[in-house]
Amino acid sequence: MTYQVIARKYRPVKFADITAQEHITRTIQNSLRLGRLGHGYIFSGLRGVGKTTAARVFAKAVNCRRMIEDPEYLQQVTEPCGECESCRDFDAGTSLNIAEFDAASNNSVDDIRTLRENVRYGPQKGKYRVYIIDEVHMLSIAAFNAFLKTLEEPPPHAIFIFATTELHKIPATIASRCQRFNFKRIPLPDIQKQLKSICEAEGILVEDDALQLVGRKAQGSMRDAQSILDQVIAFSAENDQGGSITYRGVAELLNYIDDDHMFAVTDAVYSKDPSKMLDVAQFVIQNGYDEQDFLEKLIEHLRNLLVVQNLSSTRLVERSDAVRERYQRDAAKFSPASVMQMVEFLLQTQKELKFQFEYQFRFELALLKLVEMGQSSGTDNLQNHPLPAQKKKLLTNP
Ligand SMILES: Nc1ncnc2c1ncn2[C@@H]1O[C@H](COP(=O)(O)OP(=O)(O)O)[C@@H](O)[C@H]1O
Ligand SMILES: [Mg+2]
Ligand SMILES: [Zn+2]
Repeated sequence: MTYQVIARKYRPVKFADITAQEHITRTIQNSLRLGRLGHGYIFSGLRGVGKTTAARVFAKAVNCRRMIEDPEYLQQVTEPCGECESCRDFDAGTSLNIAEFDAASNNSVDDIRTLRENVRYGPQKGKYRVYIIDEVHMLSIAAFNAFLKTLEEPPPHAIFIFATTELHKIPATIASRCQRFNFKRIPLPDIQKQLKSICEAEGILVEDDALQLVGRKAQGSMRDAQSILDQVIAFSAENDQGGSITYRGVAELLNYIDDDHMFAVTDAVYSKDPSKMLDVAQFVIQNGYDEQDFLEKLIEHLRNLLVVQNLSSTRLVERSDAVRERYQRDAAKFSPASVMQMVEFLLQTQKELKFQFEYQFRFELALLKLVEMGQSSGTDNLQNHPLPAQKKKLLTNP
């Protein structure tokens, strides 16, 4: 058996399998039911959120024999059947009714002319020919213009789907002739759920917070999450836990700086303890972590404290329950103004470090500066002032 990467093996084959983009799949399914299809669509959004996937399912659906011939099925199911000849051609990747065109590498006027020629001919079998033009923002203005005519008077059998990560680069003349769909970043819980079901299907045991780490690293891209999962599975294959995926293993593979170190920084600020802070700095330097990465994580850590302070709840903190509880407790130790002050200082430090040579030394100094900021007494004290009784109560009950 040949090995297939997860992102391809688990590519959705029907609308219902496309996660977190219901606002789009529902609209497309409605227009299929109503028989009101457009000729131009723009699918925009981050890489790996389902643009190509949705375009392929769409192309499969408009050509599915069952959808075309069985009105009841069309109304009630509105999914490609997966069984008719056309669907099977699509699934095998042999259908002639879909053409994918990569505008990043074919972006000259000549390439567009060839495409236009091609568009004139209708499908031999099936109803529509769907052209997916990926990375469409890479086309030159001349190429766009060459395309405009086709889009103004499209042949009845042609549907164009323009996919892009950079919507703002598409000329208004093109955009205004298309229906626009914005694909959103995939929320962490949805990514985690999907990874979990993949692991189940693959028969791999996995710790939940291990998947959370993978999902967080992917930052809203399902494809990235799946690629990291491939890597994690390979990494874990011959470990002592019989190939199961552990939090420790993932943290090690991703060179993930544990939350403990972030809390150690704020603890050192809170307890005004420079030697504790030096320990953290030494840990980072000696273990070969990247100082910039560390500062970025530290800023995220402070952001989490701010969120908890402002919402009096940890629901927007993407961490395990135990870590969330810690945020809940520590948020009360600092005033929001002081946390903001630290964030601003660190953002500044991040910028400065880019141009410094002795940056390990500078990094250490910056951490120490945080302790000093905490020591300045008076009204500017970094520590929180006692909270009124009612607010205190809110902070302990999310
Ligand atoms: N919304 C989604 N639901 C389920 N899987 C997804 C989703 N988005 C992306 N994927 C996974 O990521 C892979 C790449 O997605 P793709 O549609 O090609 O992304 P892009 O938005 O860059 O075109 C798919 O094969 C699929 O496995
Ligand atoms: Mg794509
Ligand atoms: Zn079918």
